[in-house]
Order: sequence, then C-alpha cells, then structure tokens
Amino acid sequence: MATRILYVAALLAVLLDPARAPGEPTAFRSFDITASRFQYEPARLEVSEGDAVRLTLRSTDTTHGFGIKELKVEAVIPKGGEPVTVEFVADQPGTFEFFCTEYCGAGHRNMTGTLVVVPRPVAPTPPPSPSSVQTAGGGREAKSASASASPASRPRAASGSPGGGHQAIGAIGN
Ligand code: CUA
Repeated sequence: MATRILYVAALLAVLLDPARAPGEPTAFRSFDITASRFQYEPARLEVSEGDAVRLTLRSTDTTHGFGIKELKVEAVIPKGGEPVTVEFVADQPGTFEFFCTEYCGAGHRNMTGTLVVVPRPVAPTPPPSPSSVQTAGGGREAKSASASASPASRPRAASGSPGGGHQAIGAIGN
C-alpha cells in the first residue's frame, strides 16, 4: 500500500517536472502576426541583432505572403487561418521592410511592415589619449587672425610633411 503511493508520487513528479520541457534548444523571440487585406498586425517588429526570431503567421482572409529581402526570409501564408512558422536569425542590424509576396488584390503592393534590428552594443573602445591628437600647423585660428596676428598664431613650418608628395605611379598606356 505504502509502496504504491510512493510509486505514484514518483511518477507524478517525473511527469509534472517543469524543467523537462523538450524541444526548445534556442530561445526565440516569438511574434504572432495576422495578415489580412492589406496589412500586417503588428506591422512593426523590433528585435536585437543576433536574435533568433520565430514568426507565426496567420491569414484572416486570402492567401498572403511574407518576405524580407535582405534577410532572405520568405513564406506563403495560406488562406483559412492555418498558421505558418518562419524562423531566422536577425544577423544584421538595420531597418528592413517586410512585404506581401503573394498577389492578394488591389492593395497588395502596399501590404508592408517594418522589422527593426537594433545593433548589439559593441565593446567600448578606449578614448583617444590627448597626446595622440595631432596638431596640424596653421589651423583655423591662424586664418581668422590675419593681419593683426600675434606672434603666437604664426603658422608653424611643416616639418616632415607626410609622404613628401605623391609619386605619380607609372602612367598606364605609355
Ligand atoms: Cu497580401 Cu499580397
């Protein structure tokens, strides 16, 4: 009697364990999108660069499509409401138009939306140290000072100008 209760309890524990949900290796950014003549709802999506994106697309009327040229995404959304899933990685930042790829009537060409892929913040680069900033001789101040120039604003002689002038590289066709 007692062993049977223990057995049932153990079985329940296995079956109900929430950590045992299989089949989700990646964390997707998931969106449900409804397509209808001639719009998407929502018409604007925002994700971060590098996100794995999963779109579940449904049509409320006729056959529509869903395409993002730059990210090579394309799907047909069948009429009747059957969902279609599209998965892709938003591997480049930017603002991309998505659009209907199946002719669906007079407003087909205007059936568009926007996917914004926000760039991932890059590792901060160290600010340039003051000593490395080059001071170019004869800057703006020297010009505006003109005739009443104080000795301090005298343009510096360019010592060791870089490159020493461009060399003409052998003209082609001679
Ligand atoms: Cu919707 Cu074409």
